[in-house]
Amino acid sequence: METITVKRFDELTLEELYGILRVRSEVFVAGQKCLYVDPDGRDPDSVQVFASDGGRITGCLRIYQKEAGVLQIGRVAVIERRRGNGLGLRMMQQAVSYVRENRPEGKIYLEAQTYAIGFYEKLGFKVVSDEFLDEGIPHKGMELIIDRESGIQSLADADKAKRDKYCLVNKQIESLVDGEPDSISNLSNIAALIHDAFGFWWTGFYIVKGDVLVLGPFQGPVACSRIPFGKGVCGSAWQRKESIIVPDVEEFPGHIACSSLSRSEIVVPIFRGGDVIAVLDIDSMDLAAFDETDREALEKIAELIRL
Ligand code: SME
Repeated sequence: METITVKRFDELTLEELYGILRVRSEVFVAGQKCLYVDPDGRDPDSVQVFASDGGRITGCLRIYQKEAGVLQIGRVAVIERRRGNGLGLRMMQQAVSYVRENRPEGKIYLEAQTYAIGFYEKLGFKVVSDEFLDEGIPHKGMELIIDRESGIQSLADADKAKRDKYCLVNKQIESLVDGEPDSISNLSNIAALIHDAFGFWWTGFYIVKGDVLVLGPFQGPVACSRIPFGKGVCGSAWQRKESIIVPDVEEFPGHIACSSLSRSEIVVPIFRGGDVIAVLDIDSMDLAAFDETDREALEKIAELIRL
């Protein structure tokens, strides 16, 4: 799975620049037979968003100032063998978030090949021009108005909804464990409750047995049975005695991939006295699915757990 990076042109390494130019050449010149000078002088003032997979650049786009108050996104390209798995969408989402968070301009403009209009509409872009030909290929102008207020508002609403849900789950757990002394029964129900409430990809427990974590009750696909102290996210949370949030599992050195579909993860230690006796591990198929709200709420849940 690719990592997506956002960099100003002057921050690119030589290898990254070469990789980006190679992708553009493969897609537009060799692939679409467009005869133009690709390094057109705009790149030095642009921000580049690119996807890389083990050092190979597989997709890219650039953002530059079109006119006062308007940015333009262009040269959106994904190499042929990586198409059809949402990479273009992820790069565009990253580009829009970058603009929303870092740039004062209120509008993004792009020229979409007509067949790709539906793709950009998913991101909120609207058609603003009639069809025109560029290099013989039909295009339409599209625009996205950056609505920072509603962006912030919807984030605040989502956070409130998440807190409310955790509050409910917390109450359900309290009543579930009250009067039930069996820890397997309790851990099983807690995993199921959290998993169902949030629709995570994997939710479960690893229990400390000597110098290793052993898989306990969980919901989701088959997982690795044993994780040594200090290894993976789980073993690291045990070693550090603190929760770890991993926004992108590919960026965590030593991450243990039980499922290739897991994209982000949170691990919360469960203590008895000062010792870690287990960890609660949750995986999501979305990047950056966990934040401080999750950490705070899951640490409260961890306090309810007796083993
Ligand atoms: N990813 C974990 C391993 C457990 S699975 O995600 C269920 C880790 O790196 O510790």
